[in-house]
Amino acid sequence: MEESVDVFKRMAGEKAVDYIEDGMLVGLGSGSTVYWMLKKLGELVEQGLNVNGISSSSLTESWAREFKIPLTDFSDVQLLDLAIDGADEIDPSFHLIKGGGGSLVREKVVNAHSKKLIIVADQSKRVDVLGKFPLPVEVLQFGWQMTANKIVELGAKPVLREENGSVYVSDNGNYILDCAFESIPDPENLHNKLKQLIGVIETGLFFDMVDMVIMGGPEGTVVIN
Ligand code: 5RP
Repeated sequence: MEESVDVFKRMAGEKAVDYIEDGMLVGLGSGSTVYWMLKKLGELVEQGLNVNGISSSSLTESWAREFKIPLTDFSDVQLLDLAIDGADEIDPSFHLIKGGGGSLVREKVVNAHSKKLIIVADQSKRVDVLGKFPLPVEVLQFGWQMTANKIVELGAKPVLREENGSVYVSDNGNYILDCAFESIPDPENLHNKLKQLIGVIETGLFFDMVDMVIMGGPEGTVVIN
């Protein structure tokens, strides 16, 4: 089972490069599905494709360097042609939960400054209503307990993310609270409430951004737009 999920991620990630054209500025998302997109893109760059990427995490940046994908940053770039990113949950309206890998803030900045966003995922990420996956919320380290208490008042059970026995610190130097809500039928409303809390930097709810979803599954890759 685990093995087939990896195969589905690879299929979706590799398919996404079909949408990258010569000369494009490309937002490089994060996660294990995006890894396969980067690897394939590296092969195309080696064959002469001319692209520049902007990374959404330090891990993506290290993979992009490994695959010799040219990188730039927002000091040079106003608007990207295309961003390709993963997701933890996708609902029928293309609302997303992201941030399982801890890169939600930079992913949101990159995706929000792209003309087009393609999400790549294995089919298990498709849900009717968001919320089975605990919602990642990036918060300031200072006073994080108070921020967590306020999130409890919104109906969640926040858990401070840890990694290898230590508190997880994002690329931006913040903490992440993984917030289990029963379900999230109105992602925009919940996002707005969370953003009003002092100490919340950003939420893993993404909406009104996605143009296309590429899913890998037993039937091959399915493109939904
Ligand atoms: C990282 C993310 C990832 O895109 C998301 O967790 C999906 O990852 P994967 O492709 O490994 O399942 O949001 O912050």
